[in-house]
Amino acid sequence: MIDSPLALRNITRNIDKIDPESIEEYLKTDGYEALKKTLTMKPKEIVSIIRDSGLRGRGGAGYPTGLKWYFAANTQSDAKYVICNADEGEPGTFKDRILMEGDPFSLIEALTIAGYAIGSNKGYIYIRDEYRLSIRRLQNAIEKAQQSGYLGLNILGSGFDFDLEISIGAGSYVCGEETALFESLEGKRGEPRIKPPYPTESGLFGKPTVINNVETLVNIPLIVNRGADWFKEIGTECSPGTKIFTLSGDVARPGAIELPLGTTLRELIYEVAGGISSEEKLKMIQLGGAAGHCLSPDYLDISLDFDSLAVKGLSLGSGAILVLDESRSIIKTAYSLAKFFCHESCGQCTPCREGTLQQKEILGRILSKKSSEKDLELLERLSVSMVQTSLCPLGQTASLGISSAIKHFKEEFLSYSERGI
Ligand SMILES: Cc1cc2nc3c(=O)[nH]c(=O)nc-3n(C[C@H](O)[C@H](O)[C@H](O)COP(=O)(O)O)c2cc1C
Repeated sequence: MIDSPLALRNITRNIDKIDPESIEEYLKTDGYEALKKTLTMKPKEIVSIIRDSGLRGRGGAGYPTGLKWYFAANTQSDAKYVICNADEGEPGTFKDRILMEGDPFSLIEALTIAGYAIGSNKGYIYIRDEYRLSIRRLQNAIEKAQQSGYLGLNILGSGFDFDLEISIGAGSYVCGEETALFESLEGKRGEPRIKPPYPTESGLFGKPTVINNVETLVNIPLIVNRGADWFKEIGTECSPGTKIFTLSGDVARPGAIELPLGTTLRELIYEVAGGISSEEKLKMIQLGGAAGHCLSPDYLDISLDFDSLAVKGLSLGSGAILVLDESRSIIKTAYSLAKFFCHESCGQCTPCREGTLQQKEILGRILSKKSSEKDLELLERLSVSMVQTSLCPLGQTASLGISSAIKHFKEEFLSYSERGI
């Protein structure tokens, strides 16, 4: 974690402070107090607290968590599931790994509360195989919680049964998309489903399912313990709470930091991350991971919260921020994004399968001095059709980094198309 006077340590309060393998240490820091409180309340009261808090999903879309829980709680079914999305495949994102390695019991407690709130007895943590230490720590936490009566049958004598299982994915970007994740968890090829139906109605095994990101979930015990009003005091009116940002690239202090939502990019890059690491000037910021927009320094004063960004057509994504200085090539950056999406497209729908391949080929032509100005136009048109016609958000966002790079750095593209690299 980056050290900074601007940092808050709410959801990261236990990271590097307690032994993540010891349930005794977790219990000493108010661990499982929120679950105990939950079990004295009605499920719908817990859903109300989460709705009142205004907590929004930290996995990328910023969807209100309490509303998702409300829909699942109010759908009748013989079985319901809660899933933690711990796939974390977004390049430059490593916040969930930090949380799982450093405070696994918080996540287990949060999932148990979610199960109680929506009426589910079974949860899964879907995590990529590369996250070996996280898997080990979560497995240990599940076993210790089971041995101590916090998971399993009749939790703390309440009559509520809930258990958790870890499901390990093979490390495919698209499997982080919630419906592809269900397919993968069901043992099938990880390809997104058409929505609707939405997961709260028909998710895993066709049953009502709540799926939340790791960071979203670890807010739950804090909100239950400290209340919705406490949570709403942090951040902005429509984006309450904190966010873990992960900074990489040409900054003096790369790493992860928990900050109130509404912090500006300028504060993040210059105050938290110590500015640009070289003698060069800031050139580009990519906001929100590989699917995020590539921005010029003109955007330094934007507020990093869901609504301020949405007004400008931008998204916070997973909170990954890539910073590049003047020595970096925008074309090479765009080409590497194109290569990534071409590799990760699942191939199910034509706009994404063919579009991501064409992006890579056209940018390859620009890099090797075999392009014309028409190619830029082609990339822009391609982007519009991918956004409008792809089946899932992977295809709908696979061109945004490239089209925004063309928008903000057109001169560089034009000069490359004339003289190549
Ligand atoms: C291609 C793609 C990859 C995604 N990867 C992740 C991921 O690794 N982790 C995650 O929590 N959400 C990911 N999402 C978002 C999920 O589909 C879903 O919105 C999220 O898990 C919901 O949780 P939240 O409401 O707590 O954010 C991804 C979405 C897409 C389109």
